[in-house]
Amino acid sequence: MKSIKFSEFGNPVDVLRVEDVEQPEPSATQVLIKLRARSINPSDLLTVRGLYGQLPKLPATPGLEAMGEVVEAGADVRKLHTGQRVIPLRVIGTWQEFIVADEAQCLPVPDAVSDNTAAQFVVNPLTAWIMTIEELKMKPGEWLLQTAAGSTLGRIVLQIARLHNFKTINVVRRREQIAELKALGATQVIATDTEDIATRVKEITGKDGVVKAIEAVGGETGARTLNALGRGGEMLVYGLLSGEPIAVDGGRMIFASTVMRGFWLSEWIRTAAPQTLQSVTAELLKLMASGEIEPPVEAEYQLTDIIRAVTHAERTGRGGKVLLVS
Ligand SMILES: NC(=O)c1ccc[n+]([C@@H]2O[C@H](COP(=O)([O-])OP(=O)(O)OC[C@H]3O[C@@H](n4cnc5c(N)ncnc54)[C@H](OP(=O)(O)O)[C@@H]3O)[C@@H](O)[C@H]2O)c1
Repeated sequence: MKSIKFSEFGNPVDVLRVEDVEQPEPSATQVLIKLRARSINPSDLLTVRGLYGQLPKLPATPGLEAMGEVVEAGADVRKLHTGQRVIPLRVIGTWQEFIVADEAQCLPVPDAVSDNTAAQFVVNPLTAWIMTIEELKMKPGEWLLQTAAGSTLGRIVLQIARLHNFKTINVVRRREQIAELKALGATQVIATDTEDIATRVKEITGKDGVVKAIEAVGGETGARTLNALGRGGEMLVYGLLSGEPIAVDGGRMIFASTVMRGFWLSEWIRTAAPQTLQSVTAELLKLMASGEIEPPVEAEYQLTDIIRAVTHAERTGRGGKVLLVS
C-alpha cells in the first residue's frame, strides 16, 4: 500500500515522500480500515518539522485524524462490520492507504455526516467546542475574543457561537478577511494590519472589556490580546502560528488579575472523565449530522499528490482544510 513517510525532520516539501509498504493486518480485536479522507493540520506539519510537543521515532508517517471504511474485521470484533464508515481515534500515522485500529478506538460515522466532515472530526471541532463550552463556559450574550479567526478552527468557533448565542470579536491579520468572516456570523472583526487590538476591543465592549479569549498566534498578537482582557480575564493559548513567544506584561496581569494558560486537546482527552468525553463526542456528531457544525474544506488532493497538498495547506488566505483523499 502507499504510505507517506519522512525519515528526517525538516520542511515538509523536502522530506515527505510516497513509499510502498506492507499493508497492516488486524488482530482478533482490530479492524482493517481503508482510509478515504485525512486532514492536513498545522500539528502534522509541525511534527514533520520536528517542532511539535510529541515527536515520533523516525521513519514515521504523519497524520492524526482521518475517516475510512472497515474492510476486514478480526475474529473477536463484535460491533463493527465491513462496509461501515468509522473515525479511528488516537491512531497516529493516518497519511496512508490502510490502518488497523482496535474496535474500541473506532467511532461509527452517522449516515448524514459526509466523509469530509468525518475526516475532520477530532482535531478542530473537538478543540473549538471544548475550549469554548467546557473550559471557558461561554454563556449567551457574552463576548469571546479569538485570534487566527480565519482558521478552520476559528470558523468552527463562529458556528458554535451561533448555536450558543455568544458574541465574537475576531482577530485576523489581513483586512480582506473582514467581510468574509462577517458573512459567516462574526460579530466584530479586527484586522491587525490596520487596527490595534486593545483600542478596538475597548471601542466594541466599553469599560467592561472582554474577559474570555482563545489565542493561536503568539508573539505580538498574543501579547496584545492578553492586554486587551478586562479585569479577571482568562486567555487560553492553543496555537503557535507565528512561532514567536508571547512577551507578558506582568504588571498588567497582576493589577487586572488576568490568567493565561495553555490548552492541548491530547492532554484534555487524556485527563477527561470518560462520560464527559462521550457526551461531547455524541453532541458534536449530532450537530455535524444536522449540518449545524460543518468544518470547511478548501481542497482535496490524492494521497500520492502529497507535495502539492502540503504546499496548498501552508498557503495564506485559505478558507478551510486541505484533505488527502482515497
Ligand atoms: N492546542 C490544541 O489542542 C489544538 C488543537 C487543534 C488546533 N490547534 C491549533 O489551532 C490553530 C489553527 O488550526 P487550523 O487547523 O484551524 O489552522 P488553518 O486552517 O491551517 O489556518 C491557519 C490560520 O492561521 C493564520 N495564521 C497563520 N500564521 C499566522 C500568523 N503568523 N499571524 C496571524 N495569523 C496567522 C492563517 O491566516 P491567513 O489566512 O492570513 O494565512 C489562517 O487563517 C493551529 O495553530 C493549530 O495548531 C491546537
